[in-house]
Amino acid sequence: MLLIGPPGSGKGTQAERVSERLEIVAISTGDIFRYNVKEQTPLGIEAKKFMDAGDFVPDSVTNNMVRDRLLEDDAANGFLLDGYPRTVAQVEYLDGILAEKGQQLDVVLQLTADDDELVARLLNRAKETGRSDDTEAVIRHRLHLYHTQTEAVVSQYADRGTLTRVDGIGAVDEVTERVLAAIESVKSAS
Ligand code: AP5
Ligand code: MG
Repeated sequence: MLLIGPPGSGKGTQAERVSERLEIVAISTGDIFRYNVKEQTPLGIEAKKFMDAGDFVPDSVTNNMVRDRLLEDDAANGFLLDGYPRTVAQVEYLDGILAEKGQQLDVVLQLTADDDELVARLLNRAKETGRSDDTEAVIRHRLHLYHTQTEAVVSQYADRGTLTRVDGIGAVDEVTERVLAAIESVKSAS
């Protein structure tokens, strides 16, 4: 399954919970990049300049990283992708990986929240964890990219009839219940 949503919508928070409940591996491209930045790997050094500016890491880098990760054993029986695909080109690339693996997406879930709530959440996180891309200017740029690039990804899955929207506003537990209910309803309809 895919979890798509703007910065601060709760992708990471919900991915962890869904992953536990459904016993599938959660794969966050942002987390993989941050790990590589911390370890100062060549990938991390390349990605850092884009991440700090709130820009997308180029597809050429991101796609190969996702491909390698999805071909690992723990993703053989299912996975939850958090934060990928976020460009139309990434959708096409993912289609290719899935065809190669003989897998298909069961659920594409969009978490929604308004920009004011998202900015408030991320500024709040900035005080707690100090993620380097959680400054107001960079948060606004990340949101802009979501609206101008990733919403086209959402539309593509909507056109394919595989998209389910979940309201991401409310207590974390409430949102988790909504997400799990949405997954159940997709499963029972198929
Ligand atoms: P990534 O790490 O994916 O960042 P993001 O999309 O900006 O999203 P966040 O991780 O900030 O938010 P989230 O939706 O996971 O919410 P969270 O659960 O943390 O990507 C970072 C960068 O990596 C990108 O900018 C780009 O450079 C690069 N990158 C990644 N993927 C890429 C790709 N596919 N292509 C190219 N580049 C890529 O929650 C946020 C906060 O809100 C937390 O403090 C949380 O505690 C709080 N919160 C969560 N739920 C609630 C709730 N219901 N109520 C109140 N607060 C809540
Ligand atoms: Mg996240």
